[in-house]
Amino acid sequence: MGQDTRFSRAQRDLLDLMDTPVWAPRSADEPPVGAVPGGEGVPPSRRAGRPPPQVLAGRPPAQDDSRAATSMPPPAAAPPELEALCSKVAACTACALHSGRRQTVFGVGNPRADWMFVGEGPGEEEDRRGEPFVGRAGKLLDAMLRAMNLDRTTVYIANIVKCRPPNNRNPGLDEAAACIPYLKRQIELIAPRLIVALGAVAAQRLLETDRPVGAMRGKLHHAAHLEPPVLVTYHPAYLLRSPGQKGKAWEDLQLAMREMDALLEEQSAA
Ligand code: URA
Ligand code: SF4
Repeated sequence: MGQDTRFSRAQRDLLDLMDTPVWAPRSADEPPVGAVPGGEGVPPSRRAGRPPPQVLAGRPPAQDDSRAATSMPPPAAAPPELEALCSKVAACTACALHSGRRQTVFGVGNPRADWMFVGEGPGEEEDRRGEPFVGRAGKLLDAMLRAMNLDRTTVYIANIVKCRPPNNRNPGLDEAAACIPYLKRQIELIAPRLIVALGAVAAQRLLETDRPVGAMRGKLHHAAHLEPPVLVTYHPAYLLRSPGQKGKAWEDLQLAMREMDALLEEQSAA
């Protein structure tokens, strides 16, 4: 069986993980997605050479002005505020979920990220490690990020609720309502250009609606109460159960990359 030599081993692993034939390059001349970080012809949203990694779960870096590299404006707020928020969350008992947690799961990534990915809440593994998306669904999210030439050090990843719901049930409306002010503050402090809502809970709570994911994906949402636009796609845990939907998720991520390119171009033209 011939192997496709356009792809490195790592890329083939990733394509297998995503199980999605559409992750091939659009033309033979074009490098595979993620093949040439920072290379010629790679649109700005996927260029490497951005921010130094800060993978601390909610603990922001010392003085790095990671946006300077791409002539972005300085961050909207100083990292110490994010650190203070993280400490506040760690002590929070505002909803019933506090009693079942091992620890809070604040968020991870670059506090000056252009991209923010939002899930619903920590699961077992996340509760154990204090970091979002580190279980099976997290591996798929990592693959999705890599296919976009991103990773968890360049984006920011957070959840609607910061404490694990028992038995991995969805967070209740009251729990989400108690916790979402923290996420909104994270959004203000990090000031991402675009939010990707992963799954129904994230999308519905962020956009204050009860519409299903299928009805919300495929376009940018501008919510009056949120500065960055929101794009909705399927939750990676759902994609693991329904691999046939991965193609749609990839379409959503491609749309997200186009939107990010447009936002970055708008800014560099300004
Ligand atoms: N699922 C989520 O929504 N968030 C996590 O952090 C892990 C799994
Ligand atoms: Fe506080 Fe959020 Fe945890 Fe509820 S889920 S206790 S609101 S941090």
